[in-house]
Amino acid sequence: MEIDVFTLFPAAFQWFEHQRHVVNAVAAGTRLNYVDYRRHTPLGAGQVDDTPFGGGAGMVLRVDVVEAALRARYGEDPVRVRERRRVIALTPSGRLLDDRLVDELAGESQLTLLCGRYEGFDQRVLDHFAAEEISIGRYVLAGGELAAMVLCDAVLRKLPGALGHEASVQEESYSQALGGAPEYPHYTRPAEHRGWRVPEVLLSGHHARIREWRLEQSRQRARAGGEAGRGSLP
Ligand code: 6GU
Repeated sequence: MEIDVFTLFPAAFQWFEHQRHVVNAVAAGTRLNYVDYRRHTPLGAGQVDDTPFGGGAGMVLRVDVVEAALRARYGEDPVRVRERRRVIALTPSGRLLDDRLVDELAGESQLTLLCGRYEGFDQRVLDHFAAEEISIGRYVLAGGELAAMVLCDAVLRKLPGALGHEASVQEESYSQALGGAPEYPHYTRPAEHRGWRVPEVLLSGHHARIREWRLEQSRQRARAGGEAGRGSLP
């Protein structure tokens, strides 16, 4: 998989790049590239944003700046690029990122992520260059960089070899294997701490009973979750 991240702050991704599963994914052939809008701006003094027409607070990322960056990277009209690559703009009001969408993205060979800053993108970026908008939740972040990292984190850990333990991806919260329900609880040593005991069944060595107990825990959590988005009952 190849992910191109367009951003005003490529340095913000340094910490993320060193995360174990990201390092593993890169070692296994995933490419993560960064394109700095500012390096490709056709405007003077590194300008990338401007005040909104009609007035109002904040600054808006300019359409000509985003176009220049996309052209520099892909060597063609960005209007065409979205026909052959999944070009995603990260916006607070986009399609909500969930496990199903993460699976879908993990199946792509190429992704382009456009991060906005300030008040966001000029609408023409969204109308003509992006194929879709994705949001990581119903709240507003100061920029798309954290959202891009969240998306990449969730996608990369689904790729073969990223975790070094494939089963952990298959049966985790919100996965198909658990019918979209939250994951069951985990325990490790010590078996007792301040009188808080690990459930006996987990120490029993009965794999079938352990499995049954875990699925039941997962179902109970889904029921307790209740509200939308907390997973449906298997
Ligand atoms: Cl993708 N971007 C911004 N700026 N804020 C967000 C978001 C994205 N998702 C939730 N809030």
